[in-house]
Amino acid sequence: MALTGLESNDLELIILGGKGGVGKTSCAIATALALSATHKTLLISTDPAHSLSDSLEQEIGFNIVEIKGTQKLSAIEVIAEEALSKFISGHQEQLKKLLETSTNLDNEDIEQMLTLSIPGIDEVMSFKTIIDLIEEGKFEKYVVDTAPTGHALRLISSPKMLDDWIKVAAKMRWKYRYMITSFSGSYHMDEVDTLLLNLKKTVKRIENLLRDKKRCEFIPVCIPEAMAIMETKRLLSDLDQTGIVPKQIIVNNVMESDESDFCKRRKQGQAPYLQQINQLFSDLNRVEVPMFAEEVKGIETLNRLKRSLFEQNEIKN
Ligand SMILES: Nc1ncnc2c1ncn2[C@@H]1O[C@H](COP(=O)(O)OP(=O)(O)OP(=O)(O)O)[C@@H](O)[C@H]1O
Ligand SMILES: [Mg+2]
Repeated sequence: MALTGLESNDLELIILGGKGGVGKTSCAIATALALSATHKTLLISTDPAHSLSDSLEQEIGFNIVEIKGTQKLSAIEVIAEEALSKFISGHQEQLKKLLETSTNLDNEDIEQMLTLSIPGIDEVMSFKTIIDLIEEGKFEKYVVDTAPTGHALRLISSPKMLDDWIKVAAKMRWKYRYMITSFSGSYHMDEVDTLLLNLKKTVKRIENLLRDKKRCEFIPVCIPEAMAIMETKRLLSDLDQTGIVPKQIIVNNVMESDESDFCKRRKQGQAPYLQQINQLFSDLNRVEVPMFAEEVKGIETLNRLKRSLFEQNEIKN
């Protein structure tokens, strides 16, 4: 089978995730390449390993660049720490004021706290950057390449983390508001309240998008090997808890040739795992991609991978 439904105009966000080294980056680029034939597409990497640049053999960074040799494809790297430090420096005053008015910390402690990373907040800021890009509306499709499994899950559960953080901050503010109102009889919303309100809106925007099956699709990438299958099972069950149900799965690195003894043995070795994949993920559209003789690097090989993903190839049960 081939990947289906991705060209639907409603579908904006496509996220690829899976175990380390299974081909997420290669498949994300190939998917973006295919979609860019009909839709203005932005390929987004949230992996700090700069793998898009390596694979596309072109420098890609924190600013959007057009991909050479393509018509409607651009790419950007959204790195969590950079997204977070951009957020902190852009809201330095409000964040300082939030801590000043809601805690007993002195100035030095506050400065120190602003340099500390709250666990998960950097992923939230990655996702905030992604949703800001989507809402800017310069592209029709956004394909996200993630770092190995845990990272994709953190990225997806990040709105919940931000929501919990906002709740704590709002509680602290509520005490402050109560104090001000008791002294002066009234309270007016200030820039800190506006910041919290805007962050709350961000959480809602991300959650709405992630849960909207028409606008967002998560595609797991797997290979026919024991560890990868186990990790995919875990990934799917964790995704299920966040209300995300994938429709299709990419099974990469499938050995097709049996011309040499080596290939024959690899193929035989993969057979039981392919069977297991077909049984475990029988409700998903399984898209097999052959193992190429050479590494997937540069537009030409990426285009070959694209054809494997998007042109019908019968799955053997
Ligand atoms: N079908 C394939 N045939 C041959 N080589 C492949 C195939 N798919 C991917 N590769 C190669 O396997 C390696 C890992 O692929 P890729 O970087 O896409 O995986 P990844 O899941 O993104 O890895 P990471 O978890 O490190 O981000 C790369 O060298 C790539 O060229
Ligand atoms: Mg990668």
